[in-house]
Amino acid sequence: MGHKVRAVVAKGKGLPVSIEIIDVPDPGPGEALVQVQACGVCHTDLHYREGAINDDFPFLLGHEAAGVVEAVGPGVTGLAAGDFVVLNWRAVCGNCRACLRGRPWYCFATHNATQKMTLDGRPLSPALGIGAFAEKTLVAAGQCTKVDPSVRPEVAGLIGCGVMAGFGAAMNTGNVGRGDSVAVFGCGGVGDAAVAGARLAGAHTIIAVDIDDKKLEWATQFGATHTVNSSREDAVARIRELTGGNGADVCIEAIGLPQTYEQAFYARDLAGTVVLVGVPNPTMKIELPLIEIFGRGGSLKSSWYGDCLPSRDFPMLIDLHLQGRLDLDKFVSETIGLEDVEAAFHRMERGEVLRSVVVL
Ligand code: APR
Ligand code: ZN
Ligand code: ZN
Repeated sequence: MGHKVRAVVAKGKGLPVSIEIIDVPDPGPGEALVQVQACGVCHTDLHYREGAINDDFPFLLGHEAAGVVEAVGPGVTGLAAGDFVVLNWRAVCGNCRACLRGRPWYCFATHNATQKMTLDGRPLSPALGIGAFAEKTLVAAGQCTKVDPSVRPEVAGLIGCGVMAGFGAAMNTGNVGRGDSVAVFGCGGVGDAAVAGARLAGAHTIIAVDIDDKKLEWATQFGATHTVNSSREDAVARIRELTGGNGADVCIEAIGLPQTYEQAFYARDLAGTVVLVGVPNPTMKIELPLIEIFGRGGSLKSSWYGDCLPSRDFPMLIDLHLQGRLDLDKFVSETIGLEDVEAAFHRMERGEVLRSVVVL
């Protein structure tokens, strides 16, 4: 039978997004139909629209979402109509070489819905296999992570991408622990979540680095103990000064630029960890003296989606929020309608918001 719903579609490279009526099939085996309640506007949506990810237009954008399961297909267990869920883009397969080695947070063969959502009969490519700037979306059942329904959807949805990426960069990839010093480069939604994660993990010094004073002020509200405006100060020298001349134990790059990666590399203490969670573009290159890579020891890591395991991490973050230990409300700069997504992209580009969240 299927459903006709309003949705935000990117039809071609660089074109403004438009609201379209799309067709969403009823869930087949292993699938779930979700009534979307809220979906954050993330950089990756803009990257799809710009053709920076691939050329599989038209894209159904949106992937940072929460909603209620409307129906599940045959064979789905552990999920039912009425469940409140956060959507994830890591529905682990259980069978790939990462899963079989007990490392499902790296799963190399994650599940998406098998059936296609369509626009005038043309298959849509859902952003990150989700496509949630829509009244309803079709996903693999494993992409639905049940969380406590008492949290507001516009807050819960953020766990599904940017906030999880930043949190996980600190807690999972960086393994920040009690008494560590941490420096976070870039204080957007991802960097601020890394700051909040470092605080929860027990870091005693948390240095926020950005070129925008407003962002640094916000980072302080998430738990930064010190701020460095790197357009005015030498970030590496200042971080060393704030850490007894040594550098930070964990340096988290949450922008995706060679120059800030290099700052993170040199602002790190011996045997410390650099975590890259910012996503570079394919043309970027970095040159570092190999002797420094050896001589400084420690580890240089990348964080994919905060190395999260949604079933483990999403309910935990929601519970921490409901206990008042993690202020997720501060990530929501504004709530908007589906028709405001294009304008929200421009506000994001101008650095005016942490997150604009579409509420349906
Ligand atoms: N030095 C320091 N800070 C910088 C610099 C720089 N050279 N350039 C930009 N910034 C700051 C911006 O001022 C902004 O506060 O980095 C921050 C980036 O934040 P957002 O643009 O809001 O991005 P965010 O959503 O946090 O994502 C950050 O993580 O997941 C990835 O694709 C995402 O690469 C992006 C990164
Ligand atoms: Zn797997
Ligand atoms: Zn995202």
